[in-house]
Amino acid sequence: MKFKSTAISHPNIAFVKYWGKKDEDLRIPLNNSISMNLGNLWTKTTVEFNDFDEDVVIINKNVAEGTAKERVIKFIDRFRNQVNTTLKAKVVSENNFPMSSGIASSASGFAALTVASASALNLNLSEKELSILARLGSGSACRSIPDGFTEWLTGTCNDDSYSVSIANSEYFEIYDLIVMVKKEKKDVSSTTGMQKFNPYFYARLAEVNENLNFVRKSIIDRNLKTLGTYAEKDCISMHTVMMNSGLFYWEPETLKIMKEVWNLRKNGIECYFTIDAGPNVHVLCLHKDKEKVKERISELNFEILESKPGGKARVIKEDLF
Ligand code: DP6
Repeated sequence: MKFKSTAISHPNIAFVKYWGKKDEDLRIPLNNSISMNLGNLWTKTTVEFNDFDEDVVIINKNVAEGTAKERVIKFIDRFRNQVNTTLKAKVVSENNFPMSSGIASSASGFAALTVASASALNLNLSEKELSILARLGSGSACRSIPDGFTEWLTGTCNDDSYSVSIANSEYFEIYDLIVMVKKEKKDVSSTTGMQKFNPYFYARLAEVNENLNFVRKSIIDRNLKTLGTYAEKDCISMHTVMMNSGLFYWEPETLKIMKEVWNLRKNGIECYFTIDAGPNVHVLCLHKDKEKVKERISELNFEILESKPGGKARVIKEDLF
């Protein structure tokens, strides 16, 4: 019997952000969050359990060592324990977008690893179970398991903190134009950054439910104006919390792009921004306005990645080795 499988998953961009945990080990978040999978960007991961001498992890053609490898091995151990095996694992993973630059590579990374590992060991897990397992690797990864637009339900313990799909990837034709200010790895990871607790976390929690309600409804109503308005509000709220912890993920160019988005809106071109834990700006617009928005933002001379909404994490036939 062959214990080998490959999965593809997409990173996601949160419209209402996850920043802060009430349980560090279990990665139980302080608040619900809502995101969209990015269909044009992907991570593909092949996992094989076999009679190897040691565990090997290769990410984007480089052999992983140190904490990066440990995080993957610790994650794989859960699966090994579940089926009671001591077989070693070979994990090969590839992304088609830059890692650790504020595009959630840990989200698609752990979502693909979850689906590939479960399939390699012939575990027949539900979407909820897969989402719970992915969350233990990286919180935002649980949102990359279901299809399209998803909401991570905070929950209270390991078994009730997972994501569900609000709408599938075809439902709402919006585009994310990712304006690349910087491709390099960020200085402070999200995991470390969100541990720096400060009183502004309380202020954020006081407003986050309103943002969630408006964003959830705006997806169902296919209403970009409401979605964008509340996504911008929530992004600024999260970055205010970050800044109060001494974390400035923005670069001067980040603000320049934010202001250009406001400027475009003033001129009747509908688009909105959101920013994760990095300087790159995600500009949201309707499919019909994509070329117009891209043309205007291109004048600022940044590389732009574009993505439509993406599907769920799933097994594919083509193995990477
Ligand atoms: C700013 O999911 O990377 O992108 O659970 O510690 O692995 P860990 O954190 P991670 O945090 C993502 C933070 C964010 C906001 C979001 O995607 O909701």
